[in-house]
Amino acid sequence: MTNDAISNLPDYSDAALDQAFSSLESQVREEAAALSSSESAETFRLRWLGRKQGRLNEVSARWLKGAPPEAKKALGQRFNAFKAVVEALLDEASGSEPSDAALAAEAIDITLPGTRRLTGSEHPITRTMNEIVQVFTALGYSVGVGPEVETDYYNFESMNFPPGHPARDTQDTLVIAGQERRPLRERLLLRTHTSPVQMRTMEQQPPPVRIVIPGKVHRNDAQDATHSPIFHQVEGLCVDTNITFSDLKGTLDHAMKALFGSSVKTRFFPSFFPFTEPSADVQISCIFCAGKGCRKCKQSGWIELLGCGMVDPAVFAFAAEKQPAYDPKKISGFAFGMGVERIAMMKYGVSEIGQFFAGDMRFLGQFV
Ligand code: DAH
Repeated sequence: MTNDAISNLPDYSDAALDQAFSSLESQVREEAAALSSSESAETFRLRWLGRKQGRLNEVSARWLKGAPPEAKKALGQRFNAFKAVVEALLDEASGSEPSDAALAAEAIDITLPGTRRLTGSEHPITRTMNEIVQVFTALGYSVGVGPEVETDYYNFESMNFPPGHPARDTQDTLVIAGQERRPLRERLLLRTHTSPVQMRTMEQQPPPVRIVIPGKVHRNDAQDATHSPIFHQVEGLCVDTNITFSDLKGTLDHAMKALFGSSVKTRFFPSFFPFTEPSADVQISCIFCAGKGCRKCKQSGWIELLGCGMVDPAVFAFAAEKQPAYDPKKISGFAFGMGVERIAMMKYGVSEIGQFFAGDMRFLGQFV
């Protein structure tokens, strides 16, 4: 602490008074800011407010006593204001242990923006997949799942792709390495479609079956705007007595209207899948131009969206190995499968499939 005596005033002009008091004030504030314990607060009190040797006392003795009468008022006002400052600083210092400097360091500026926590939300693919599933659960379907690493038997053979059949080549398969010594049917691969879960479900339960199967699938496809080696499908299977192609048409027509709006129309074209006979591709009227013809539907007014068909008796024969009730003479059924990314791209106007998997928050943040 500086041991500086109070010096005499050069004169009693307002300017001289202001100058003198402001230098005292900066001195007292500096000392107060450096206080750290209640002990030093007491030293501070004695130094400034002590009855005998306090600096305020000295100021009063040196400046007030000898002041000319016309300067007394101005001097008195400044003196009282200064005393109030010193007292306030003392109150502050003795009220709290840490120094002002320490407090300032800890202080919370409530005007600063807070730390924002990001709220998570469903990924657009998950959301679309759930929406599709819900359309079918509302019709009484239950939901099934199966493994993503699958055997050749479930992915191909039991779905009526015999070994060496050219239809296998249509699904560019990613296989697990080092399986060559196993029998073909046991070899592991990344499932290329959700269809194997049809067989897994039928092996577990006799008919009737109404099930939707959402899930991830893999193909050895090069990535482009509409292809990705990882994507998702929703598969459906309905088996009961007297299930007909009209049931299939009615169910999928309803589902497309539920997903894209009640004005959407559907049409069915002959197609081929090993596991269905007859098979069909389903097209919906273009949701962008209401069927008039635009760039999105290549001026045709229609967009191809999913595959379907009546379950091939050969598939039932595989199921009957475990569940004899799948006798193709007594029961019939339909199946369908659709790509989730394709539907999500249409619903949300996304033109690059890769955006769904890039993890870019600028993209994903739009689906909160
Ligand atoms: N599994 C087919 C694919 O990945 C999609 C499919 C078409 C599934 C017709 C079906 C179906 O169940 O009946 O290309």
